[in-house]
Amino acid sequence: MPLGGPPLSGVELELIHNWIELDAPDRPSPTFAGKIRSIFAERCYQCHGTDVQQNGLRLDSLAATLKGSASGRVVIPGDSEKSRLVRRLLGLERPQMPHGGPLLPADEIASIRDWIDQGAPSPAADKETLILRLSLDLIGLPPTIELKRWTPSSPIGVRMRTRRW
Ligand code: HEC
Repeated sequence: MPLGGPPLSGVELELIHNWIELDAPDRPSPTFAGKIRSIFAERCYQCHGTDVQQNGLRLDSLAATLKGSASGRVVIPGDSEKSRLVRRLLGLERPQMPHGGPLLPADEIASIRDWIDQGAPSPAADKETLILRLSLDLIGLPPTIELKRWTPSSPIGVRMRTRRW
């Protein structure tokens, strides 16, 4: 494997191996379209939705959420600790959100953090994006041509597609 192509190099195999190890979550990761948007809809749209966008921040689509506010990004994919959105929910930056309270329950904050820490990807992230992320995450470099040619028809691909991004 890959059929008809040159065999994968040691580094690439190692990369894929590491990925599988990392990518065996015990619980499904929250997705924007699934859990996250419904939390935002219930608790944030009132001030960060279609009608009102406090400080220019909209949280009613993935693209808008990733784009951030008038002051810049509020979500740093892969780093919930540094994400202003989380810092506001935890009260590490003021005013705490949701503005005027009540605070989000701990499990909802945990879901939002999980979602960000897992890279805040779109549920429809395509193979290119996934491979780019994988490559950047693990070796800090964009993927090589060989890795880009790899198609999701191997058992690894099956696993990738069963994971809910
Ligand atoms: C009742 C209105 C209201 C609600 C509800 C609300 N916000 Fe806000 N939000 C504001 C206001 C007003 C600001 C700007 C205040 C400031 O930062 O000085 C703000 C600012 C923010 C900022 C900082 C933007 C920036 O770049 O400075 C973030 C992040 C944020 N809100 C996230 C949320 C999240 C997530 C929710 C839902 C859990 C939420 N907000 C619910 C009113 C609200």
